Amino acid sequence: MRKIIFVTGNSHKVSEACDILSKAGITVEQNNCGYPELQDDSLEKIAGFGAQWAANELNSEVMVDDSGLFIDALGGFPGPYSAYVFDTLGNENILKLMEGVANRKAVFKCVIGYCKPGNEPRVFSGEVEGVIAQKIRGTGGFGYDPLIEVGGKTFGEMPDDEKNSLSHRYRALLNFAGWLQKSD
Ligand code: IMP
Repeated sequence: MRKIIFVTGNSHKVSEACDILSKAGITVEQNNCGYPELQDDSLEKIAGFGAQWAANELNSEVMVDDSGLFIDALGGFPGPYSAYVFDTLGNENILKLMEGVANRKAVFKCVIGYCKPGNEPRVFSGEVEGVIAQKIRGTGGFGYDPLIEVGGKTFGEMPDDEKNSLSHRYRALLNFAGWLQKSD
């Protein structure tokens, strides 16, 4: 089994990655060392920078995950600022911003950054299209899970294995695993 260090403080992301990557013969080990978060509009740049920094810091190959919720009617907000907006506004206040808004389309995007020490980073992305629910539903998952509805259910209403079979993170990790299996 190939083992990759996942640099993140988010244990939910780790358990999802363990589930998804184990099926590709890859084990994941969490490291909580953190990395500087680039202020940028591009999740790819943020994830690439973080992976490169952490790979050099730990002297090991690493992966990181930068995700964002892009709400169509809000011009893509909160996008790369999703963590800050979740912490400051939260799901209830996002719902208030969406009151009376007919276009509820949203895209959840996940970018996996991967890097070996001394190398350039690589990034792998995955997206899922959904809608912002009319109200918060479901108690599963974390973060925006009870807010985003995909195929009639919010991520918060899905069992873990259902979310992990269609989520933005699943799609990004599938791209990553496919590439990793072909690389040395
Ligand atoms: P970051 O990738 O940790 O910066 O995530 C941005 C924000 O989106 C944070 O508030 C996360 O909790 C949230 N988030 C990331 N991935 C998911 C997910 O799969 N479901 C729900 N919320 C998520």
